[in-house]
Amino acid sequence: MKLTIDSEKKTLLLETNDKSREIDLYSKEAFELISRQWLKMGWNQKYTYTFSWMGRPVIQLPEDMIRTQEVIFSLRPDVIIETGVAHGGSLIFSASLCKALGKGRVIGIDIEIRPHNRKAIEEHDLSPYITLVEGSSIAPEIVEQVKSLIQPGETTLVILDSNHSRQHVLGELQAYGDLVTQGSYIVATDGIMQDLYDVPRGKEDWAEDNPVMAVENFISEHPEFVLETPPWQFNESNLDQNITHWPCAWLKKK
Ligand SMILES: C[S@@+](CC[C@H](N)C(=O)[O-])C[C@H]1O[C@@H](n2cnc3c(N)ncnc32)[C@H](O)[C@@H]1O
Repeated sequence: MKLTIDSEKKTLLLETNDKSREIDLYSKEAFELISRQWLKMGWNQKYTYTFSWMGRPVIQLPEDMIRTQEVIFSLRPDVIIETGVAHGGSLIFSASLCKALGKGRVIGIDIEIRPHNRKAIEEHDLSPYITLVEGSSIAPEIVEQVKSLIQPGETTLVILDSNHSRQHVLGELQAYGDLVTQGSYIVATDGIMQDLYDVPRGKEDWAEDNPVMAVENFISEHPEFVLETPPWQFNESNLDQNITHWPCAWLKKK
């Protein structure tokens, strides 16, 4: 696919294999096509490595954070489980929402929680809302440890943001899917990898080895889940697609 922007003519030329089509540059369709390209460019520039939340670096696209906030606000989970802690920004983000809502706590799992990150998270004002678990998110003893931290009947939301290989994400979906409560989600983040195979910092094998593939495998064997991007809480536009690093990510428990 080739996109050519003509900002003077206000057109976007879309060329695919043997066909070409001129699109109004200010249309919904052009916005979505250019946004998809912009996401790839931003990923290559490490755009998501430029944000923080209440003092901690958070490696997320802000739109994905806003959408997550919309879900947390409407769902009001008792427990938010997150694999992939890194600097702790996403844990602090979720914890700040729990504090604001007066409900909920966060469990963060990472194979390696570096001492300076652990210290910063443990010394943060929101640390009472956070439990850190160190180890591989798919190791049986780690999964058991996480399960032991959850009481029967608690509403649980799970966000997977650790190793994004197909096999690992599939292992996480299988390990944590049981914990997701009815109407809540397990979120396999960073499916954008499927589009990054031709980006300078990307890898060719990501076309096949990515979280979306894991979701497809998982859902074919788990009819209790449906792939359903949460509806927007507010929309006075004609738009209806998330501009996201998390395509095909939101698995809702029926
Ligand atoms: C993308 S970062 C997480 C970013 C974080 N959620 C945020 O939004 O700021 C991925 C993290 O996954 C962790 N990780 C990699 N393999 C893992 C595994 N097998 N189990 C648990 N964590 C893993 C890495 O150590 C790294 O800190």
